[in-house]
Amino acid sequence: MKILVSDSLSEEGLKLLKEHADVAYMPEISPEDLVTEIGAFDALVVRSRSRVTAEVIDAASNLKVIGRAGVGVDNIDINKATEKGVIVVNAPHGNTISAAEHAIALLTSLARNIAEANNSVKSGEWNRSKFTGVELTDKTLGVIGVGRIGSEVARRARGMRMKILAYDPYVSAEQAEKTGIEMVPFEELLRQSDFISLHLPMNPSTRHLIGEKELAMLKPGVRIINCARGGLIDEEALCRALDEGRVAGAALDVFEEEPPGKCRLLEMSNVLVTPHLGALTREAQTNVALQVSEQVVKALQGEPIVSAVNVPALMPETRAALEPFLPLMRFMGSFYLQMFGGTADEIELTYSGEIASMPLSPLTTSCLIGFLHHVVGDGVNWVNAPYIARERGIEVRETSTTERKNYSNLVTMTVRAGSEAHHLSGTLLNGDMRIVRVDDYRIEIIPANYMLVTTHLDKPGVVGKLGMLLGSENVNIASMQLGRKTAGGEAMMVLQVDEKMTPRAVEKVKDLDVIESARFVVMNSGLFQG
Ligand code: NAD
Ligand code: MLT
Repeated sequence: MKILVSDSLSEEGLKLLKEHADVAYMPEISPEDLVTEIGAFDALVVRSRSRVTAEVIDAASNLKVIGRAGVGVDNIDINKATEKGVIVVNAPHGNTISAAEHAIALLTSLARNIAEANNSVKSGEWNRSKFTGVELTDKTLGVIGVGRIGSEVARRARGMRMKILAYDPYVSAEQAEKTGIEMVPFEELLRQSDFISLHLPMNPSTRHLIGEKELAMLKPGVRIINCARGGLIDEEALCRALDEGRVAGAALDVFEEEPPGKCRLLEMSNVLVTPHLGALTREAQTNVALQVSEQVVKALQGEPIVSAVNVPALMPETRAALEPFLPLMRFMGSFYLQMFGGTADEIELTYSGEIASMPLSPLTTSCLIGFLHHVVGDGVNWVNAPYIARERGIEVRETSTTERKNYSNLVTMTVRAGSEAHHLSGTLLNGDMRIVRVDDYRIEIIPANYMLVTTHLDKPGVVGKLGMLLGSENVNIASMQLGRKTAGGEAMMVLQVDEKMTPRAVEKVKDLDVIESARFVVMNSGLFQG
């Protein structure tokens, strides 16, 4: 395995990667060289300098995983990575404390004009009244985004006896109350806060969250701290609000463009700036490098990962509970496609019994992998199976009921294509995979590498005639299951055979007068893994 590290990474992280792979350390590689070099690598590890664009991912013919040593993944084209089946992992916890402490440092420095006062004294001045500050005690801090960093900031600010208001559309008031945070609507936070600190991700919907309109709503004399991402604030609009004194000061660790180049904010005395230092502590850099390196190695080794951005992360105990069902789901997906073909408008999976209370999306994805593997080959994986299904116009639906019908766990797969629909039901019987229904046939199909599936009319002599033919074709039968709709009616037979049958031999089976249809189903044993 070959790993390219295209940004600076701490020694500890590099050491861990080198224990498992050949590592090329190119912390200053240019964007152009990244595109030309990436094709040779299985994994790419970046911080925030490298931009992993669609062009880079398109050129990355061997890439399996991108690791981001940090939280924000806005420098990675996640959609493109997902489309190409590349796992993206980050290190979401490693720099939380450092970023929160930096936000608090900016908050206190801004309140007491520390940076300007420092410059003034060092330049020989002794002007005390010019740097008169404000107290934090009893002031209101509005925290936008109360995830990991936002809640640590809130906790520390409460320790300084500030009142905390927070806005986060994805955190419930009950959750927030537990940490002593009062959730308020966005506009209320803007109107009531003496200080505002941003701690949310940058994406198309949060870009310029604080723009002209929002700045106009702020309490006069408010101070703003941004230690999250530059584009969250419209910098031009912020300059105007600072010019007019509506905003008393801003402390910025991040900028719309980094480095910011010629930016008016840098010339303003009431703006305190740092060069994206939030995560730059010895502790955080070691933490994120170790966390991301560990996840990249796990992803390359096909082991469960906990911080994937574009695949659902599972707790080890949940994964252990799901694990026996994943091969069953792949078996069903693959069996279905080989029986009925790959045309589908909709795949519906109905989960009943105990399985219904498990996280369903990994099960559904496993079934899609089994199904799509025949359509797109090895290119389908955990990351892109739902994407490929959507791209092919297949709507995937999940329904669940904890009610048990005959089986403690049952999954029914219904595939609709135009006016046609077919069904398969599968279960685990004492831990063994079984398909227990195919359309209206009740049967107990045992998975095997090679299976001959026929339909016929239920009458004496069918098994004998088929057995004779297979004997003459030198095909050895390992086992057989029969299912029928009614006695004497339509029936299904599944024969597990020891070797692959030739298309000519299958045609001869179809030509037997007692046989209505025949399909040869091949189960790739690799498909049952993971
Ligand atoms: P997190 O995912 O734990 O928290 C982000 C929170 O933002 C979540 O609770 C989410 O619900 C909320 N959110 C999403 N959209 C929102 C919206 N429109 N309005 C309000 N809230 C919204 O992430 P985190 O680890 O706390 O990191 C937060 C940000 O800080 C990220 O952008 C990250 O890149 C940045 N960061 C910067 C530095 C630095 O060096 N300056 C260091 C670490 C992280
Ligand atoms: C992050 O998102 O983790 C931070 O911006 C830190 C960084 O990459 O420097």
